[in-house]
Amino acid sequence: MPRIIKVFPDPEALAAAAAGAFADAAGASTGAFRVALSGGSTPRALYARLAQEPFRSVVPWSRVEIFFGDERCVPADHSDSNFRMADEALLRHVPLEPSRIHRVRTEFPPEEAARRYADEIRGPHFDWIFLGLGLDGHTASLFPGSPAIGEKTKLVTSAETPETKLPRVTVTVPVINAAAKILFVVAGAEKSEILRRVLEEPATRELPASLIASQEGEILWLLDAAAASALSPR
Ligand code: 6PG
Repeated sequence: MPRIIKVFPDPEALAAAAAGAFADAAGASTGAFRVALSGGSTPRALYARLAQEPFRSVVPWSRVEIFFGDERCVPADHSDSNFRMADEALLRHVPLEPSRIHRVRTEFPPEEAARRYADEIRGPHFDWIFLGLGLDGHTASLFPGSPAIGEKTKLVTSAETPETKLPRVTVTVPVINAAAKILFVVAGAEKSEILRRVLEEPATRELPASLIASQEGEILWLLDAAAASALSPR
């Protein structure tokens, strides 16, 4: 399916463009709009933009249903929690019914939290999935060499952060690839080389983000100029 790459001069312009792309897609949809948020630090700015005007008024929040592509197995109020980051930047600032925010229940052990989340997401389809890119080529919590990469049956599985061994819960590759729209948001010069490898080298399990290939929708890569600085001229 088509892969579209757009480059913006700086992180602020990137955040505004990512928020606008989401708002346009949500506004054009009919019925429930199922979204999986990404974690880490990059999306904080775009989530904050979505919480501000015009997006706060433009997005049909009453039809939006929030899920998480992955979560660290820490309490929801822990500084490492993806839920906490999204709640601080966006969720508590927009008119979303709490019942439409589906947090990973990290109060349970990782395997049980993953099983419960698979029930929570009910099926593989998302209208929109935000993703980031780690310095080792991971996305969501699909790390190089992880058994989670090869999971083809489960919707959600447990994983482990390579260095810290911190347990995580992540949706699987088939769920991501079933999304109608996948939006990677990548910023910063430190991501330039891994981004070049993911976008320009053959897909490999050693670069999990390179395995993301939407089956039915499109993949949109929104980058700032620093992250895109190693890409071949197009
Ligand atoms: C997470 C994310 C992860 C993230 C990348 C990039 O839970 O950490 O889901 O996949 O998107 O690690 O993180 P940064 O945006 O912090 O560089």
